[in-house]
Amino acid sequence: MERDAISRREFMRRSTSATVALAAPPYLLDPEPSLASAGPVPATDRIRFGMIGIGMEGSGVLATSIRLPGVECVAACDLYDDRHLLANQIISAATGKTVPTTRRYQDLLENKEIDCVVAAVTDHWHKQIIVDACNAGKDV
Ligand SMILES: NC(=O)c1ccc[n+]([C@@H]2O[C@H](COP(=O)([O-])OP(=O)(O)OC[C@H]3O[C@@H](n4cnc5c(N)ncnc54)[C@H](O)[C@@H]3O)[C@@H](O)[C@H]2O)c1
Repeated sequence: MERDAISRREFMRRSTSATVALAAPPYLLDPEPSLASAGPVPATDRIRFGMIGIGMEGSGVLATSIRLPGVECVAACDLYDDRHLLANQIISAATGKTVPTTRRYQDLLENKEIDCVVAAVTDHWHKQIIVDACNAGKDV
């Protein structure tokens, strides 16, 4: 039987390259893939997310994500009412719309309109929100 032409060293080199390529976050491969393909997105392809945590990190993530074609924030959650105002300032500046806000992230998980949630809350809340979101059938 003919031996495989590929050496062990070559196999390791190729599989490591493939693994690195697959594991690399998309932004390393293409800095602005979605913005580059701006254009109308059919309603069936749109992603509707709920934003949880509108602090230093969340406000920036919110402002960036709603600029992506086909991505829409439909509700926002924070423990502080001032952050509700901030969320709607960010959203209305980009889209001219406002969204419902709440102090309870569970409201977003119960919202059938929402496909996924983005959580930018203080660290000790990460686990519980992710577990609850997954149990509610939401992507996180
Ligand atoms: N600030 C940064 O530069 C930065 C950079 C990278 C990652 N992060 C990460 O982002 C996360 C948030 O950090 P931050 O700096 O934005 O903090 P932050 O305190 O500015 O904002 C957190 C927000 O989450 C809200 N929040 C907390 N618990 C909540 C809950 N149960 N339900 C709803 N809202 C809740 C708070 O009211 C607050 O508005 C942390 O995990 C942090 O490590 C922050």
